Amino acid sequence: MVGDYMERYGKSLRLDKLRKEFGTLVAVNDLTLEVKSGEFVSLLGPSGCGKTTTLNMIAGLLTPTSGRIYVGDTDITDLPPIQRNVGLVFQNYAVFGHMTVYENLAFGLRVRKVPDEEIRREVMKVAEMLELTEILGVKAGRLRLDEMQRTALGRSMITKPAFFLLDEPLSNLDAGLRSTMRVELKRIQRELQQTIIYVTHDQIEAMAMADRIAVMNFGVLQQYGSREQLYNHPANKFVANFIGSPTMNFIDCTLIEKNGKSYLDASDFQVEATNLADTIRKHATGSELIMGIRPEDVYVSRQAKGADSIQSEVFMVEPLGAKSIVTLSIGKILVKSIVPGTFKADLGERLWMDFNMDKLHVFDSKTEQAIF
Ligand SMILES: Nc1ncnc2c1ncn2[C@@H]1O[C@H](COP(=O)(O)OP(=O)(O)OP(=O)(O)O)[C@@H](O)[C@H]1O
Ligand SMILES: [Mg+2]
Repeated sequence: MVGDYMERYGKSLRLDKLRKEFGTLVAVNDLTLEVKSGEFVSLLGPSGCGKTTTLNMIAGLLTPTSGRIYVGDTDITDLPPIQRNVGLVFQNYAVFGHMTVYENLAFGLRVRKVPDEEIRREVMKVAEMLELTEILGVKAGRLRLDEMQRTALGRSMITKPAFFLLDEPLSNLDAGLRSTMRVELKRIQRELQQTIIYVTHDQIEAMAMADRIAVMNFGVLQQYGSREQLYNHPANKFVANFIGSPTMNFIDCTLIEKNGKSYLDASDFQVEATNLADTIRKHATGSELIMGIRPEDVYVSRQAKGADSIQSEVFMVEPLGAKSIVTLSIGKILVKSIVPGTFKADLGERLWMDFNMDKLHVFDSKTEQAIF
């Protein structure tokens, strides 16, 4: 739709063992990551995991302790911010409240001494794309939050950065607006084929928008992959726990042998794992294991499905409309299951529980790495 904004830069961004220390604290620990041209990548992780520090190094606002940053084959690690062709949008959007939306959008071009006529053309284009045309004359300080948000995006977009760096840009919006803006942002990104690195601690946001997600914890990259990879094949317990809501069930267990079969023994119940035993033995560093099963892969029923069905008691029911979360107790162990909202169960009622064994994860208890 908007001609020259469609131009692709065709260059990837590559972080090579990027590291930032603050005194003894390692905020970003040898981060290696490639973002392809046109890709929407999310940096996801809890507060303090090094997301903002990473973005600031990419933008050139922070000098790395070590490691390099490349755009295509060019090493940009020592370039000043202005020469990097990156656009930054922060959580507290930098709009000038006393200036109109028009002037805010025009700002980046004015400082580059672009002729007025061209500025006008560019402002109109960006305004149209972000649906700001009607409010170009309004002072930014009087805007609604979402309008302010779009103005901040537009201010950055107008300079046509090769890379867009967004640091929790939606965190000030309420839930409804946030979900609208998520859709909008994704639409604009697709339309422009814009490369975006999007920082968030909200896994739902990352899962909704990103082509690939880099999960970080304590400055260390935990896993980098598509939402399917992260969801279905988490590399470790941290990722398994961080992605998905309600979270995966984790149950401490060991592998035991009985009558020629293998079982994952959680004390209060066992599940047969004969065909998984070899893999587990090969990769486990010790005998302590953790079973992981997502709530949607735990089935409940009033009749035992088979000899392996596990007897449980209803501990809690949380109705969520179309679905309910039922927490089952098996001795001291609690397991969550997602059931249709029409499924009614009373507290204390006895139900049978089965795991979808194809979706079972097993983690090494000591390293917390996934065995599968
Ligand atoms: N200028 C600084 N001096 C000292 N320590 C810092 C500095 N900036 C960040 N840190 C520390 O580095 C770590 C990473 O911080 P960073 O801001 O990158 O985290 P974040 O993932 O963006 O967290 P949040 O989700 O809270 O924004 C934190 O422990 C933080 O306290
Ligand atoms: Mg931050």
